[in-house]
Amino acid sequence: MKMNDYIKLIDDKLNEYIQIEEPQTLFKSMKYTVTLPGKRLRPVMCLETCKMLGGEIEDAIPTACAIEMLHAQTLIHDDLPCMDNDDYRRGKLTNHKVFGEAIAVLAGDALLTFAPQIISKYSDNLSPVTKMRVLNEYFNYAGARGVIAGQVVDIESENNPNIINKEKTLEYLHIHKTSDLFQLAMRTGAIIADADDDKLNAVTQFAKDFGLAFQIADDILDETSTFEQMGKTMGKDKEENKLTYVSLYGLEQAKCKLSCKLSDCRDIMGKQNFNSKIFNEIIEQIFERTGI
Ligand code: IPE
Ligand code: IPE
Ligand code: MG
Ligand code: MG
Ligand code: MG
Repeated sequence: MKMNDYIKLIDDKLNEYIQIEEPQTLFKSMKYTVTLPGKRLRPVMCLETCKMLGGEIEDAIPTACAIEMLHAQTLIHDDLPCMDNDDYRRGKLTNHKVFGEAIAVLAGDALLTFAPQIISKYSDNLSPVTKMRVLNEYFNYAGARGVIAGQVVDIESENNPNIINKEKTLEYLHIHKTSDLFQLAMRTGAIIADADDDKLNAVTQFAKDFGLAFQIADDILDETSTFEQMGKTMGKDKEENKLTYVSLYGLEQAKCKLSCKLSDCRDIMGKQNFNSKIFNEIIEQIFERTGI
């Protein structure tokens, strides 16, 4: 399947899974951010991992969509005034700008539990054991030991001159706030394909490196890109004194580190004989967008 075919499949299913129920404001707010046009990288990577390791794409669709819902939840909360205070997301006003802060907080909360319900309700083709394994992965990466931990350290590192080991802290927060959802996407794809431990470990390492690369690229683009290209306000990291790869290492060294991480990803694909045009395309796009 080509990238656009994956995106169309995911968008159709996201629209189907979120119907406007009562209370309508809540469901409209949930659906708003989930269905705004994003790159859909995490669900695409979940489906492609499943296919690459011999599974059926069909079986992973509810999980892939649930991960995009979780991603949208992190974006809604990340943009709130008490967090990064952003007015634009995916080229449109942020959730709280449209629905108000209270509804945006609640829509995020709602998505966090709505998403795993999609997995349990629609994954008819998965055995009870596989379904339970997938749900465990979701709870692990979505929770206090996953993306939330990363977001907490991100916020605590903002404007903070007292961090003892900035390099370690930065790597920790990037891995959790960003790699964790990529790990969730690829690990669940692999589990649904019934991959062995070797393959599961390899995709976990790939996703960890890829997520770190992806967040370094996001840090670089915050400095070098435009609203038109990114659909969000640029230059915010500097304004808010965020701990990023650019603020700690400077633009050129951040680009070097990004390039290293992407070649680690390519090495894993080579060693494991992962044959995937989609993964090559996704890696290539990061090289192009950041001009490294
Ligand atoms: C934004 O993720 C949050 C980060 C981890 C940098 P994406 O850049 O994947 O956002 P969308 O889904 O395309 O909007
Ligand atoms: C976002 O990191 C990570 C999560 C939303 C979990 P950023 O705060 O850098 O993402 P953007 O730049 O707002 O998309
Ligand atoms: Mg943030
Ligand atoms: Mg942000
Ligand atoms: Mg950013």
